[in-house]
Amino acid sequence: MKAMQRKGTGGLDRLIMVDMDGPGAPRGGEILVRLHASSLNYHDYLVALGKIPTADGLIPLSDGAGIVERIGEGVSEFAVGDHVVSCFFPEWENGEPVSSGFARTPGDGVDGYAREWVVRPANWFTLAPGSYSHAEAATLTTAGLTAWRALVGDGPLKAGETVLTLGTGGVSIFALQFAKMMGAMTIVTSSSDEKLARARALGADHTINYRQHPNWAEQVLDRTGGRGVDHVIEVGGPETLPQSISACRVGGHIALIGVLTGFSGPVPTAVLLARQVRLQGLTVGNRRQQIEMIRALDVNNVKPVIDRTFPLQDLIEAFRYEESGAHFGKICIDI
Ligand SMILES: NC(=O)c1ccc[n+]([C@@H]2O[C@H](COP(=O)([O-])OP(=O)(O)OC[C@H]3O[C@@H](n4cnc5c(N)ncnc54)[C@H](OP(=O)(O)O)[C@@H]3O)[C@@H](O)[C@H]2O)c1
Repeated sequence: MKAMQRKGTGGLDRLIMVDMDGPGAPRGGEILVRLHASSLNYHDYLVALGKIPTADGLIPLSDGAGIVERIGEGVSEFAVGDHVVSCFFPEWENGEPVSSGFARTPGDGVDGYAREWVVRPANWFTLAPGSYSHAEAATLTTAGLTAWRALVGDGPLKAGETVLTLGTGGVSIFALQFAKMMGAMTIVTSSSDEKLARARALGADHTINYRQHPNWAEQVLDRTGGRGVDHVIEVGGPETLPQSISACRVGGHIALIGVLTGFSGPVPTAVLLARQVRLQGLTVGNRRQQIEMIRALDVNNVKPVIDRTFPLQDLIEAFRYEESGAHFGKICIDI
């Protein structure tokens, strides 16, 4: 089968397409999946760049969607022909997080889905939404579930509340869609007026260009009558967190998700405390939350926003496109 592997040290050019043996037949409790699509996340980009240390020869990409081709003995959740999508934390079934690391995350601690076939325990996948293409389904594993958990699982978001999303990448656009689906008011920031127009077409109620308004929290307070927002999808990290804290209502919630501006920095603790903001770090979500998210997407007929799709052999080009920041929503990979 065809697969991409990351070999040796260096940057994106260390991604190499290889021909390797297929995974063989599924054993008890396992399924054989013909993968048809994946999608790119910032985490995958850091792995591909070598900024997150991984085993030599790792098959990258955490997201995988495809068709169950064979089932092992004892598998009752899936049948041959089912369309399925992978789980980011396959062994975190439900409840509280079970670990703080990526040791069992496909495309990081273990081989991912930049390949044609895989055999995995059945519970490393869930059913995909009925009406989704494989590429659409592949967007759910990481970006979709992170936004879902931040707002619905942990928020918990209520109709009529206000959600602020930063930028227009994969997680943030999902958050905008979920917020609208749940009956919230939405404020979207972006570096690009053109992207903000697209966000309005998706239902964003207010938009702010964070380049034109470096102190964008003031704009957020303006648009909310001075109150601030109930939930912030914080994907920026150290450079954006102080503004996010100021943009939050007293007693509001910040889902600390991203590291786009770095891994550490000063935090205005006095403002955080005075505003009684609930600041929660989170990484993706569990399998139960993925199943609940997929049910909600099915019922509401909400589809992810895919900006571009690249064939697997153009994975490096796809990462360079992600690096450029030109995308709006998700970048997908056709396998
Ligand atoms: N904790 C988790 O479980 C989890 C899960 C998924 C992702 N993440 C993290 O969340 C972040 C976003 O991931 P992603 O996959 O959605 O990335 P992505 O699709 O590559 O999104 C990048 C977008 O972020 C926006 N952005 C960049 N710098 C910004 C800034 N200073 N202020 C506001 N927006 C900014 C840009 O939007 P504009 O072009 O519109 O300006 C850019 O297009 C990454 O740090 C990723 O590692 C974390």
